[in-house]
Amino acid sequence: MKIAIIGTGYVGLVSGACFSEFGFHVTCLDNDADKIARLAAGVMPIYEPGLEDLVTRNVDADRLHFSIDIGPAVAAADVVFIAVGTPTRRGDGHADLTYVYAVAEEIASHLRGYTVVITKSTVPVGTGREVSAIIRKANADADFDVASNPEFLREGAAIGDFMRPDRVVVGTEGDRAKDVLRALYRPLFLIETPIMFTGLETSELIKYAGNAFLAVKISYINQMADLCEAVGANVHDVAKGIGLDKRIGSKFLHPGPGYGGSCFPKDTLALVRTAQAHDVRIGIVNEVVAYNDARKQSMSRRVIKALHGEVEGKSIAILGLAFKPETDDMRDSPSLDIIPHLLAAGADIRAYDPKAMEEAKPLLPSSVHFAENAEDCIADADAVVLVTEWNEFRALTPKRYITLLRGSVMVDLRNVYSPEEMTRSGLDYFSIGRPA
Ligand code: NAD
Ligand code: UGA
Repeated sequence: MKIAIIGTGYVGLVSGACFSEFGFHVTCLDNDADKIARLAAGVMPIYEPGLEDLVTRNVDADRLHFSIDIGPAVAAADVVFIAVGTPTRRGDGHADLTYVYAVAEEIASHLRGYTVVITKSTVPVGTGREVSAIIRKANADADFDVASNPEFLREGAAIGDFMRPDRVVVGTEGDRAKDVLRALYRPLFLIETPIMFTGLETSELIKYAGNAFLAVKISYINQMADLCEAVGANVHDVAKGIGLDKRIGSKFLHPGPGYGGSCFPKDTLALVRTAQAHDVRIGIVNEVVAYNDARKQSMSRRVIKALHGEVEGKSIAILGLAFKPETDDMRDSPSLDIIPHLLAAGADIRAYDPKAMEEAKPLLPSSVHFAENAEDCIADADAVVLVTEWNEFRALTPKRYITLLRGSVMVDLRNVYSPEEMTRSGLDYFSIGRPA
């Protein structure tokens, strides 16, 4: 089976590498010629653990190719995946489908023989049918079906998530398309991955419903953390106490500065807009969108409070810039809210992230200093704020902080350290939802 994947970003590149690892012949396509040239030279455009090895192995085996030339790859393909971005549309919060529809237009005339066109991008209900209509209009004779096959991988754990998913969801109507999708996911079927077939609309909605549910869960525990701080309870014990109830489950109950990343913020907003367009009330998700934005904005106030309101001229070290560890993705990262506020309050900011600094630099004010490593970042600072829980920060001991810092304030927005140990060492330690 030959696969063409249009859009070689996180999802397109990881999916392409994994499908080639399954043994299929894959061409990853992108209209970013520079990205494709670098990939062809073995340079990864993103940091994702294990990706470089997987790509290199499959390129060497002649199963994985990169190209900007959509025509021949689509003509040869049995399956065409659309994996381009669906960012928030400026002005109204809906998913911007410009890139998806442009790809539908572009591939239409190149389809040869029976082809299944699959949206892997996260797309609102109705998009698959529109993709089908666009192709049909541009190429009345094309022999094709459309399918929706949403992707559930997480950045930083993308290959494991793709290779061992909890489930595969496929939305399509025709038996021919179902057979192709079954063959495509046979390696996962063999390891007993549940493969669920639904209609197009249902599959499209499953993706948004899943992401929004996880965003609700995170916001719920963040609100409980706020309450814990007010009443002197411990949010980790609350999370454990409720998470042990199998109906609730323990995952995604870790409190923090608010969720970021390329998907939860845009997908919750797009789901709200879909519901509004259909006059359906989903107030829970609406509240989560507003609460999470406000939470990210409010994190800098915690830091200012920890410094007793005196931030002018203070040196503040920021550990971690990416929206989560094991990625260099900066999209909607809480650090992008926190740092400008602290700068506006008069602080000097020194920042360090193990992988995301190059991505972060163009997104942050030029007055931010970037340190070579975590210890240089902390050295002589009045306060340190841990924004992203990279493992290398866990190795920093309270003694090391005390030795390196000029001041003694530590704001741990990911609850990485033990409050008892930090306080015992003489640090003024503040975390999320736990008594000091
Ligand atoms: P991305 O921005 O990393 O990559 C998209 C790629 O598509 C870019 O390289 C861009 O140059 C390319 N592109 C745009 N228009 C094109 C065209 N006409 N022809 C060829 N290439 C084109 O995006 P991503 O993070 O991979 O997300 C893609 C989709 O997958 C989104 O809908 C997203 O919501 C969804 N998704 C993402 C993740 C994730 O972890 N990032 C997980 C699940 C689902
Ligand atoms: C998320 C989903 O987990 C994936 O299933 C989905 O495919 C993807 O979005 C997508 O649609 O793009 P991702 O954004 O890579 O994956 O990362 P997550 O691990 O879900 O974290 C998202 C945000 O929530 C991060 O800012 C993280 O710090 C935060 N988070 C997560 C918490 O604050 N607490 C938690 O308990 C879990």
